[in-house]
Amino acid sequence: MLRLVSPQTAAVRAVKQALSVKMDKSFNTYCRLLSSKKFTVQDSLPHLPVPPLEQTLHKYYQSIQPLLDEEELEHTSKVISKFKAKQGPHLQKLLEERAKKKENWLSDWWKSQAYLNFRSSVVINSNPGLLLPRQNFEGLKEQLKFAAKFISAVIDYKIMLDEKKVPPEKSGMQPLCMSQHYNLLCTSRIPGIKCDTWQNFSEEKPSHIVVICNNHFYLLNVYGKKDRPLSIEQIYQQLKLIHSKSEEAAPPIGILTTENRNEWGKIYKKLMKDKVNRSSVELIQKSIFVLCLDQSVSSISDDNKTSVFAGQMLHGGGSHLNTGNRWFDKTLQVMIGSNGICGVNTEHTAAEGPPVIALIEHVLNYCYKNEERVLPAVGIQDPIKLKFNIGSKMLEAIENAKKNADSLIDDLDLTISQYKIFGKDFLKSMKLSPDAFIQVALQLAFYRLHQEPCATYESASLRRFKYGRTDTIRSCTVPSYLFTCAMDDSRVPALEKLQFLRQAVQTHKNISNDAISGQGIDRHLLGIKLTAIENGMDIPKLFMDTAYTKSMHHKLSTSQVSSKYESIMFYGPTAPDGYGVCYNPQSAKIGFAVSALNTSPETCSQKMTSAIHQSLSDMHKLTSEYQMAKL
Ligand code: COA
Repeated sequence: MLRLVSPQTAAVRAVKQALSVKMDKSFNTYCRLLSSKKFTVQDSLPHLPVPPLEQTLHKYYQSIQPLLDEEELEHTSKVISKFKAKQGPHLQKLLEERAKKKENWLSDWWKSQAYLNFRSSVVINSNPGLLLPRQNFEGLKEQLKFAAKFISAVIDYKIMLDEKKVPPEKSGMQPLCMSQHYNLLCTSRIPGIKCDTWQNFSEEKPSHIVVICNNHFYLLNVYGKKDRPLSIEQIYQQLKLIHSKSEEAAPPIGILTTENRNEWGKIYKKLMKDKVNRSSVELIQKSIFVLCLDQSVSSISDDNKTSVFAGQMLHGGGSHLNTGNRWFDKTLQVMIGSNGICGVNTEHTAAEGPPVIALIEHVLNYCYKNEERVLPAVGIQDPIKLKFNIGSKMLEAIENAKKNADSLIDDLDLTISQYKIFGKDFLKSMKLSPDAFIQVALQLAFYRLHQEPCATYESASLRRFKYGRTDTIRSCTVPSYLFTCAMDDSRVPALEKLQFLRQAVQTHKNISNDAISGQGIDRHLLGIKLTAIENGMDIPKLFMDTAYTKSMHHKLSTSQVSSKYESIMFYGPTAPDGYGVCYNPQSAKIGFAVSALNTSPETCSQKMTSAIHQSLSDMHKLTSEYQMAKL
């Protein structure tokens, strides 16, 4: 075995000692806080309902109409009727019984179905990236200064979480479940050979973050004595030390986290057999979060530089750049380059985009205030290098992971853009739901490019319910299809087009409201299917039907992730011949991230972006002209 690093028992001991600093406060205190009076809103949140079966089947039938021909529809109508008469009611009863016993009948299932059982690489396929507004700095010193501020801001947010002072969020008058906010820090996905797990280490009160620099991993204790957080200047000094010790690149052990999950699970098992490796990996998993000091991407044309920077956040830019300078299993990874580029990559198991945005908006507000809020701490420890024993087998695994990661990255076609002609304010003034309007524009854009409608997924938040995650809004509706056909038909008068548009927008708003109220289609059907599996019953034919397969092949996988800042989130497409579209509607503009795969001859993120912009402009013209006519 080729030993690149010798086992350092002293280093392991030092690390354990560093960790024990904050282990004295027991978990009971933490639990007491959680159940304290401040949590009554959370405690009183309603449980996720199980919708009536008839209602879901009726909505399901409506949702597949634009996707099927008449013969297929007739067949599916019979399949639905049989299901309603036979297995359906029994499965519904079993599901309702489950719902009575659980605070949320879906959340455990969802965690494993959507995330932990997912065996492809989490990179591009599951972890979203988030590009933050470019900061006005250049060079190493400024990079480290900004990173220090960023760390201090996250710790400030952590203290608010620890003290239960994060303002509860609402959607209109409805309080939202805040549990996801508590899943962002001190948490990690852990690979397994067939299925992963996920752990929250908050109870151990970790006091460190991990900094990755030139593929080296360092433990940086961000608290001094008496649990006092380090000041920005103190963190900066620590980062300087880390950077100065990381001049030569280390073998990119972090690139192993880009592997498909079964492969990474097998490698992980071997890696963890070594005591030194195990200690280092556990410290990464338990850390508050991971901060990656990135090398800058040079020589890129002005045209696509935002998209290249977004790629840096989503996948690291390739094994020759920053892809090894990562630990993709960590729930929160922050990336900061020396050219003012910064962003985040989040492991998705335990939280959606909006709680990440809440944390990041706090961080940016804090950074822009540009003031030292913390007095210097005493009892600072030097950063500790996390060592790895890497033998020839592990080096081979790293080389394989590099190749696999690079081909995954080469296949990604990503375009980031800002649509600046109008934003939310214009749409509100027209009495139109901004989200619904954008979704209809996506339908029009897709139809114009591909001359057909497509099954579409839009995330709907279920956070009105305790431990709620998401349901699906099936954005391709009969009215949206009618509008897309009418819009470019010269025989249809403008006023009629506008009526089709308004009808499509209103229908979208109605189905969104249903989904966020726990009356959606998809999670209910998933619950029915899993109930059959868990009870050893045959999977109903409803789920084998072409209609179901077609309606789950999401050529448009979309999500609104809004922020007051010009930040944009992105992820890969979920269908090989489809697009991932994420958008941030702001008052006067809309940010878009469109992804596709280069291996698909049918898709192109640039063309889709142009089609979205054009559709928005054409729909804007239609609505404004009518408004003028009314005046
Ligand atoms: N006339 C005037 N104003 C209207 C309107 C109308 N007809 N319809 C809506 N509006 C207003 C709303 O009141 C709201 O106002 P506000 O900005 O002052 O709050 C604003 O327009 C936006 O509303 P709308 O665009 O309709 O929807 P939304 O922003 O509430 O978003 C969803 C809808 C479905 C996207 C949202 O509820 C949701 O579930 N998001 C999930 C996000 C998520 O979890 N993503 C996962 C990422 S990993």
